[in-house]
Amino acid sequence: MTKSALNTASGKAPWHFDRQDWASGYCNVEKELDNFKLHASKGEIPSELCGFFYKNGPGKLERNGQLVHHPFDGDGMITAIHFEGGEASLSNRFVRTKGWQKEEEAGKFIYRGVFGTQRKGGPLANAFDLRFKNIANTNVVKLGKQLLALWEAAGPHSLDPVTLKTHGLTTLDGVLKPDEPFSAHPRFDPGHHGSERMVTFGVKTGPKSIVRLMEFASQGDKAGQIISDRKDSFDGFAFLHDFAITPNWAVFLQNAISFNPLPFILGQRGAAQCLNSKPGTTGKFWLIPRDCGSFAGQLPRIINAPDGFVFHHVNAWEKANEIIVESIHYPDYPEVRPEDNFLEMDFDLIPAGILSRCEINLTENKVKTTKFSEQCCEFGMVNPNKEGLEARFSWMAIAAKEIGYAPLQAIKKLDLLTLEKKIWNASPRGFVSEPLMIPKPGSPIEDEGWILVLVWNGKRRGTDLVILKANDLSEEAIIELPIAIPHGLHGNWVSDK
Ligand code: CO
Repeated sequence: MTKSALNTASGKAPWHFDRQDWASGYCNVEKELDNFKLHASKGEIPSELCGFFYKNGPGKLERNGQLVHHPFDGDGMITAIHFEGGEASLSNRFVRTKGWQKEEEAGKFIYRGVFGTQRKGGPLANAFDLRFKNIANTNVVKLGKQLLALWEAAGPHSLDPVTLKTHGLTTLDGVLKPDEPFSAHPRFDPGHHGSERMVTFGVKTGPKSIVRLMEFASQGDKAGQIISDRKDSFDGFAFLHDFAITPNWAVFLQNAISFNPLPFILGQRGAAQCLNSKPGTTGKFWLIPRDCGSFAGQLPRIINAPDGFVFHHVNAWEKANEIIVESIHYPDYPEVRPEDNFLEMDFDLIPAGILSRCEINLTENKVKTTKFSEQCCEFGMVNPNKEGLEARFSWMAIAAKEIGYAPLQAIKKLDLLTLEKKIWNASPRGFVSEPLMIPKPGSPIEDEGWILVLVWNGKRRGTDLVILKANDLSEEAIIELPIAIPHGLHGNWVSDK
């Protein structure tokens, strides 16, 4: 987008948006559908697109007139859209967690949310209730025959991949202890060491933190079986939402964050509201050797990281004696205060996420950081066949304006070598979620395929599924969905092989 493009006929910049349009995307999902046949309202569904598009995110944001304190406290609702031969159908289900079932029966919130949702009655009604409600709302992945709804502070829920029926909490055939923390950010190794794997982790934190790194077969007869498993202990409290993989390393960025649980215990704050950035300290890269790699069995490497805060990584790869990590960096931890109403937040006070590259030199234990762009972004990815390897292109959700924080309203394809960019813009009335890049089956061309993205359509107060060509972000199809899906979190594509 050039500067001259900022002036439109109406005199408003193209990033102009109506706060009511944005806020209307925080609503309850009212319907559960089975195999509802979809039709493109514009364009045609590509016939080569065959598989399931799975998405998770908060679907219940209000009960009995009480709104969650933060959308991350909303119960997980899974959307599955199946594509085959140019046709598509949608099913959706709330994950039947214990908390969801009890609150459905009660017709009100009876659990405290990690992001500050409290039971009515003030601190006295909440103090000393330290139960976590596993809301299964962050990501959805297929592992073996199971679909897993993930929430990082507790164990995964197992669902049927077609009907979305909840089977219940799973230990993954005894791999996990009951309700052991299991990350919501698995990475899919496309075959660095032969067959495909799902690499993931769990964190137990306190004055010392233990990171459990697990690798599962994700293909063939052994899909779902654990292949390797290691535990490493690190000093200090850990807040690890995401990580990255290369053929030899699992890359974690331990943000400089402290945790004071007292206000949580006393019923004044949610647990996640007790996180604070630690002035005068820097984050650390925790580099754990993968069991299948050249450094198997060695101790982790710990190297100082740049200032700031990272939720999400885009990709990592290796070059000679360096690990390169591309991530979305914030200047500070975006605190969620008890007195804030998220629907009225001042966007100008929120730090923007900036796509940056850290080159970690393993010989000198030094990190060099460079920014790709000043434009606020989130939810970046590369072609899944390039996960853990050097990739030329990345796709991400961005704010439509060029500097500063704003809701995500556009999709960007960035050439990581030349910085050439292509943008598909949903503003002023559309709000995008995480885009998924789906490679064209069998194509050796890195940017050949599609981008699938759910877009909150502020005009019709509903959700559209938009299909773009991955190489130039031209529109292939727009499908107006029969359900309104709130601004969501993560998902995955599972191709019909
Ligand atoms: Co995430």
